Amino acid sequence: MSSPVLSVFIRSLGVHTPERVVTNEELSKTVDTSDEWIKTRSGISERRIAGPGENPSDMGARAAQKALARANLQPSDIDLVIVATMTPDVPFPSTACLLQAKLGLRRDIPCFDISAACSGFVYALQVGTDMLKSGRYRLALIVGAEKLSSVVDWSDRTTCVLFGDGAGAAIIETTPQANVGVLSNLLGADGNNAELLHCAAGGSAQPATPNSISSGQHFLRMNGKEVFKHAVRVMADSCERALAQAGVHSDQVSWFIPHQANIRIIQAVAEQLKVGLDRFPINLDRYGNTSAASIPLALEEAWQQGKIKHGDLVLIVAFGAGLTWGATLLRWHEPIS
Ligand code: ACO
Repeated sequence: MSSPVLSVFIRSLGVHTPERVVTNEELSKTVDTSDEWIKTRSGISERRIAGPGENPSDMGARAAQKALARANLQPSDIDLVIVATMTPDVPFPSTACLLQAKLGLRRDIPCFDISAACSGFVYALQVGTDMLKSGRYRLALIVGAEKLSSVVDWSDRTTCVLFGDGAGAAIIETTPQANVGVLSNLLGADGNNAELLHCAAGGSAQPATPNSISSGQHFLRMNGKEVFKHAVRVMADSCERALAQAGVHSDQVSWFIPHQANIRIIQAVAEQLKVGLDRFPINLDRYGNTSAASIPLALEEAWQQGKIKHGDLVLIVAFGAGLTWGATLLRWHEPIS
């Protein structure tokens, strides 16, 4: 008889970012902005921009291959795929199905996308964890992959300086060990604030027409000031609630991995939580806001740099369009044999 599933943990991570680097200097040649403005208001210095044949399923597949190799796993070991993205390759089929075929995964496994914008990875991790806890699956591939450059209006200086492309993948696994991996989590949303960050056309309510295209309705639009205020409030609150659920104090958390949207948002969250900014790994200076890819990109980097160690408490927290938010507290578990 198989052992009962007591916990689900992140066994491996992998990332892929496009080679092309676009600096603030380069952007300032096409829109009325400056390196100084972008750095001061957001903390971003440069971002990666995908090429034409480099779609979320391609970037996600490359990230997943690295995660599989690091865990000594074969594509055939994967039982379930969830891709979080707000920039799917095509409206349908799902990016997860496209990625399944590109990676050569088994043909009989469930594959689907989650649309929760920048909170997508936290949502996908939670859904994957719950599916694994059902005992029906052992290994799941959770991917955050975005090509935001395809929905950014490159003539709108209020948004184009903030976003970038990339992908991160996590392989999550069940274990009969108690009290490791995902310890607590919460997800939330408030659709009443949908208009603060949205794309008006391209769906079934407003399919593409010559007018929708010429009036720029297929681009991302954002009320930056309002999003900023909501982000600080919901991220700090989500952290506190995820900690309370697990009966953990913020002092016990080694690393906070926040969605990498804006250094000022992260600073404000750290202040509200009364936690030093040195416990918040930052890489938004090099990648900008990569939406659902941002947390796995930051988590993988902190793990590869040796910051995150076996037994550490790690709190990931995100917010995004929807509005959506989520936080997950993990006890980091290396598969020690
Ligand atoms: N370069 C130069 N000037 C600019 C630029 C730019 N790139 N963008 C805006 N400005 C100007 C504005 O026009 C404004 O000028 P005005 O005073 O003459 O009107 C001035 O700079 C100040 O603009 P604000 O909007 O007040 O600047 P703010 O300090 O609020 O910073 C920012 C703007 C960076 C967008 C900030 O509000 C923010 O980070 N908001 C949160 C955004 C975010 O995190 N979004 C991601 C959500 S996650 C997801 O789901 C995708």
